[in-house]
Amino acid sequence: MTFLELAAARYSVRSYKATPVEEEKLAAVLEAGRLAPTAVNYQPQKVYIIRPGEVMQRLNEQCRFTFGAPLVLAVGYDKDRDWKNKRMPGYSSGETDAAIVTTHMMLAAWEQGLGSCWVGAADFDAVHAALGLPENVRLTALLPLGYAADDAVPGPLHAQSRPLEEMVCEL
Ligand SMILES: Cc1cc2nc3c(=O)[nH]c(=O)nc-3n(C[C@H](O)[C@H](O)[C@H](O)COP(=O)(O)O)c2cc1C
Repeated sequence: MTFLELAAARYSVRSYKATPVEEEKLAAVLEAGRLAPTAVNYQPQKVYIIRPGEVMQRLNEQCRFTFGAPLVLAVGYDKDRDWKNKRMPGYSSGETDAAIVTTHMMLAAWEQGLGSCWVGAADFDAVHAALGLPENVRLTALLPLGYAADDAVPGPLHAQSRPLEEMVCEL
């Protein structure tokens, strides 16, 4: 599969089998996150693995978009390690870095035959508290991960990519 074929085939999976994810597949996904580019290569990303059990229950109480996945990655960044742009006071690279890491992992998951879904519709402060994470970590995304259920289908928005000419402008 070429990269473009993978990018086109991947879709947000919102229904999962309970089948556990093999550790080597999880390792490949995490490695893709480790290798992601970050500002000044400061690598502020943090990824928390949540498996079925008490922690998953606490997460599910805060966010209903985990879709029964056997694994959820909570992605964020260390606020003490992100790059601060002195030319733009207040700008931090942390959210961008974590987004690239999340994207790498989402695409690597698909390559491993696994589905995932970027979940941003959560109160991340509440999730942070429920997971008992350190104060210096800011969460930016949840990534349910697992084998797509037999009845999983792409959502209606999946096929609605705007045409290239609406995205690209020659200057
Ligand atoms: C920043 C971001 C936040 C998202 N939040 C959610 C979410 O909370 N719940 C959900 O079901 N999908 C969420 N999605 C998935 C998008 O809805 C999905 O990627 C988009 O509709 C395109 O569909 P596709 O991923 O199937 O191609 C999110 C995606 C991104 C990039």
